[in-house]
Amino acid sequence: MLPEPSSILITGGAGYIGSHASLRLLESGCRVTIMDTLALGHMEAIEALRPHGDLEFVQADCGDQSTVCRLIRERSIDTVMHFAAFCDVNESVHHPLKYYANNTGSSLHLLMAVAAMAVPRFIFSSTCATYGEPDASHLPITEACPQAPINPYGHSKLLVEEALSATLEAAKHSDRPFAYANLRYFNVAGSDATGRVGEDHDPETHLIPICLKAAMGRRDGVTIFGTDYETPDGTCIRDYVHVSDLIEAHVAVMHALEAGDGRAYNVGTGRGVSVREILESVRRVTGVDVTGLDGARREGDPPMLYNDPSKITAELGWSAKYMEIDDIVATAWDWMQAHPEGWSS
Ligand SMILES: NC(=O)c1ccc[n+]([C@@H]2O[C@H](COP(=O)([O-])OP(=O)(O)OC[C@H]3O[C@@H](n4cnc5c(N)ncnc54)[C@H](O)[C@@H]3O)[C@@H](O)[C@H]2O)c1
Repeated sequence: MLPEPSSILITGGAGYIGSHASLRLLESGCRVTIMDTLALGHMEAIEALRPHGDLEFVQADCGDQSTVCRLIRERSIDTVMHFAAFCDVNESVHHPLKYYANNTGSSLHLLMAVAAMAVPRFIFSSTCATYGEPDASHLPITEACPQAPINPYGHSKLLVEEALSATLEAAKHSDRPFAYANLRYFNVAGSDATGRVGEDHDPETHLIPICLKAAMGRRDGVTIFGTDYETPDGTCIRDYVHVSDLIEAHVAVMHALEAGDGRAYNVGTGRGVSVREILESVRRVTGVDVTGLDGARREGDPPMLYNDPSKITAELGWSAKYMEIDDIVATAWDWMQAHPEGWSS
C-alpha cells in the first residue's frame, strides 16, 4: 500500500504545464513544493499560485540532490511530478548535449535522491516523441507502438523511462515501495479556463500560440511547414490535448498507482487535427484572417501523430473533456488577450 498522496514535489512548476498542475493540486488541498531553475519558467507564475494553498518554491535545479533530499524530508513528500525539461525538438538536434545533460542527467540525479529518500510515487512527463516516426500500421498510436525516437529530445526522455523501469526493478528487491507512471503527452495546448495561469514560451515553438500571436498582429503570417504530405489537406496532423485534461490524467494516475506499478499511458484526445484546420480554428475563434504561408517540409516531421486513448480510458477512466479544437484555442486566446506580453504583462 502506498500512502495517500498529499505532499507533491513538482519540478518545472514555474513553466506552462507544471504551473497548471500546481494550481490543480493546491486547489485539491495538497501541499505543493516547486523546484524550478526559472531558466524558462516565470516567477510571476509562482506568485499567481501562492494564494491557492500551501506552496513552497525553491529556485534550484531538480538534479541538485542535496536540495531535493532536504525538501523531501522537510515537506514529507510522497509524490514527485517531474515536468522540468527542455522541450524544443529543433534545438535538441543542434544542441544535443544540452538536452541529454538536462533532460536525462538532471532526471537521473533527481531519481537518485528520490530512491535514497524512499519517495514511493513518481510521475514522469514523457512524450509521443519517444515513438519517433511510426509507420501507418501503428496509427493511431497505442502504448505498444515501438519507441524509436528520431531526435535527441525524444531520446533524452526515453532514457528516463528506461531508468525508471530499472529503478522499479531494484525497488522490488528491497523493502522500499515504489511505483511510477510515464505519461506520454501528445501536443499540449490551451490554458486554465479561468485564466489564472497560461502558456508563455520564449521563443514560442507551438503552433496554436504562434497562430494566436499572428492574430494579435505580433507577427506576420504563419508558415505551414509542408503542404504535400499524404494527408487529406496536405499538412501535418497532430493530436491536441487541453492542458487541464492532461493534468486530470496526472491526478488520476497519482491516485491509481500501487506499489510495484510501472505504468505508461499516452495522453491525447485520439483526434487528429491538421495545420490548416488549426489555422481555420484560430480564424473562427479570433475573427482575424491569419495568413498561412506555404513553406517547405521540416526534416523529421512525421505526417501524422495521433493517439489511441483506449488504455488510459479503460484503466483510469480518463477521457478528454475538450474534444473540439475551437474550445481549446479559445482558452489559449483568452489568456493571450489578457497577457499580450505573456507573464510580464
Ligand atoms: N508542451 C507540450 O506540448 C509537451 C508535449 C510533450 C511533453 N512535454 C513535456 O512536458 C514538460 C513540461 O513542458 P512545458 O511545455 O510546461 O515546458 P516549459 O518550458 O513551459 O516548462 C518547463 C519548466 O522546467 C524548468 N526547468 C527546465 N530544466 C530544469 C531543471 N533541470 N531543474 C529545474 N527546473 C527546470 C524551466 O525553467 C521551465 O519552467 C516537459 O518535460 C516536456 O518535455 C510537453
